[in-house]
Amino acid sequence: MLIDTYGRVATDLRVSLTDRCNLRCTYCMPEEGLQWLAKPDLLTDDEIVRMVRIAVTELGVTDVRFTGGEPLLRPGLVGIVERCAALEPRPKLSLTTNGIGLRRTAAALRAAGLDRVNVSLDTLRPEVFRTLTRRDRHADVLAGMAAAAEAGLAPVKVNAVLMRGVNDDEAPELLAWAVERGYELRFIEQMPLDAQHGWQRTDMVTADEILAALHDRFTLTPEGESTRGSAPAERWLVDGGPARVGVIGSVTRPFCHACDRTRLTADGQVRNCLFAREESDLRSALRSGASDARIAELWRAAMWGKKAGSGLDDPAFAQPERPMSAIGG
Ligand code: GTP
Ligand code: 5AD
Ligand code: SF4
Repeated sequence: MLIDTYGRVATDLRVSLTDRCNLRCTYCMPEEGLQWLAKPDLLTDDEIVRMVRIAVTELGVTDVRFTGGEPLLRPGLVGIVERCAALEPRPKLSLTTNGIGLRRTAAALRAAGLDRVNVSLDTLRPEVFRTLTRRDRHADVLAGMAAAAEAGLAPVKVNAVLMRGVNDDEAPELLAWAVERGYELRFIEQMPLDAQHGWQRTDMVTADEILAALHDRFTLTPEGESTRGSAPAERWLVDGGPARVGVIGSVTRPFCHACDRTRLTADGQVRNCLFAREESDLRSALRSGASDARIAELWRAAMWGKKAGSGLDDPAFAQPERPMSAIGG
């Protein structure tokens, strides 16, 4: 079991498969990209599957999410999913992606055992998409979502980050669009995890602002804490349901007290929090012949030291060294 000193138990593992991405969302990375991890530093497919196996068989992890950067850029993704789906007990498997390339791969991922996908989409307007992501791939993302739904990777969840003066007027139309297609839309408050360190609290569109904009057009009924569990999203039924909308208010409505996450970076470091300042180097242990039991012990120790919260409200808050794209969201 992965337990910390506050009694929280981590059962949800997020595995970053690459720090690279084919978009350049302004709230994430600069136009020129970042200094990518070198290939030998990345865990191999075998190493990833071994780490997931240890997490599932020895540490009580039940849910595994593959993230990036952009995880569809990892050549071995389908094979990794297939091997993780063969583990006993079988973990629930999901993927967080920007959707580019999903049209081609959705059916193969489903066949390999992937259960669900979350796709990022911040705007319905192709020209705003181009400004926000610095790439002209809006149509690819929409096609990727449709292919995922078609392949049975359901429910497709859509993640939207609103930015002031860019797409903050789009909340109601994004929701109407998602409801029509049976996608579950979640709005995410922008977090200080951009590589450029340009985040400012006053620029962030807050959960309250988003909800106010939605209330103008929809009737929202809270789902209540009993169904939330440890999910980062608070959810509401839209116009009586069954459609739902979520808000992930990491900054103004933190859910750290219920957090059930542990993270593995593409270069084999365990992070006990999205905002952790320290990492535990499990790659060195893996590559120096450590047993499964020893790796499990190091992982437990890494989680034991998890802080109570993100520290975002602390006046001395400092961003983690790694940006979101290298942590895995
Ligand atoms: P579901 O199981 O589908 O609800 O997944 P999820 O919402 O946890 O995953 P996803 O990768 O779609 O993440 C959505 C947003 O939640 C991203 O902006 C993540 O950075 C954020 N998020 C995920 N885990 C955490 C966490 O532990 N802490 C905080 N503050 N945010 C998180
Ligand atoms: N703040 C909030 N969400 C972010 N994402 C990327 N960077 C940030 C940030 N700084 C979102 C992506 C994706 C999810 C994994 O995290 O849009 O949907
Ligand atoms: Fe790529 Fe995701 Fe960062 Fe956008 S937010 S640049 S899609 S890693």
